[in-house]
Amino acid sequence: LDLHTFVRGLPKAELHLHIEGSLEPELMFELARRNGVELPYSSVDELRRAYAFDSLQSFLDLYYAGAGVLITERDFYDMTMAYMSRARQDGVVHAEIMFDPQTHTARGVAMETVFAGIARALRETRATTGITSYLILSFLRHLSEEDAIATLEAALPLREQYNDLWTGIGLDSAEHGNPPGKFARVFARCRELGFRLVAHAGEEGPADYVRDALDLLQVERIDHGVRSEEDAVLLQRLIDQQVPLTVCPLSNLKLQVIQSMPQHNLARLLRLGVMATVNSDDPAYFGGYVADNYIVCAEHLALTRHELFELAQNSITASFLPPEQKHKHM
Ligand code: HPA
Ligand code: ZN
Repeated sequence: LDLHTFVRGLPKAELHLHIEGSLEPELMFELARRNGVELPYSSVDELRRAYAFDSLQSFLDLYYAGAGVLITERDFYDMTMAYMSRARQDGVVHAEIMFDPQTHTARGVAMETVFAGIARALRETRATTGITSYLILSFLRHLSEEDAIATLEAALPLREQYNDLWTGIGLDSAEHGNPPGKFARVFARCRELGFRLVAHAGEEGPADYVRDALDLLQVERIDHGVRSEEDAVLLQRLIDQQVPLTVCPLSNLKLQVIQSMPQHNLARLLRLGVMATVNSDDPAYFGGYVADNYIVCAEHLALTRHELFELAQNSITASFLPPEQKHKHM
């Protein structure tokens, strides 16, 4: 079996995927035309050429600007359907999808519009393919905690209606200068409300932010977390407690968290016994979907087929699926 076929054939969960980061340039141009939104690029090629990043912030600037073409329920539906059909080709059996409502409500898009479009695509996909999914509403950490609380309050009236999907709360955007502690109160509230909790930490930010996400936010999973390796005590804790890391290798390369793929610590973390998983983060911006991320690691980190299988199994284990559904995929 060739590597691509082997990787695509592994039943896997994608646990770190920003739906706004799955918006491909072609669809971005189509939505811009449909909605009469002006893009500062003359073509798909010119836009793609702008995807040369040197930091998380340099990416976030384009990512938030790109999301400006999303206006109607149908736009969110189209974007989500495109991701789910692509994920299906990669052997994804379950996806836990982050979305950033503040990026849309700040532009006057209603919270209901965002939920409705994404949910319609996820429910339709579940009905026609059996692929399951959950939604992780993520707060933008460069904004205030008050803004996060207001966002939670605006979304809570929709909770019953989207009960089958909206199970989690996350934290993303610019990490430097926005430590987890800034969101301790809103995360405590979300925990009381029964949401599953995750946070980005240790991508660009220090290992301290990973520890703070665990201690101050009480998250169950760390998004990225690759800088945890810099703190031996923390690393041992991640291993002992089997805290999942949702690692995104192509993202780390494109945002220059690492300078070349052979430098990536995924294989080391996995071999030390960390509950590491492989994910795509923002595939339209970083040059690959989830299977591409497995493949690039196999090629540059000399992962064995058993290790690739182990990574796929970890993704099911680390998901928020109930135990009986996990077992179905393992
Ligand atoms: N890090 C922080 N915020 C993000 C990312 C990321 O990798 N992708 C989309 N928003
Ligand atoms: Zn991310």
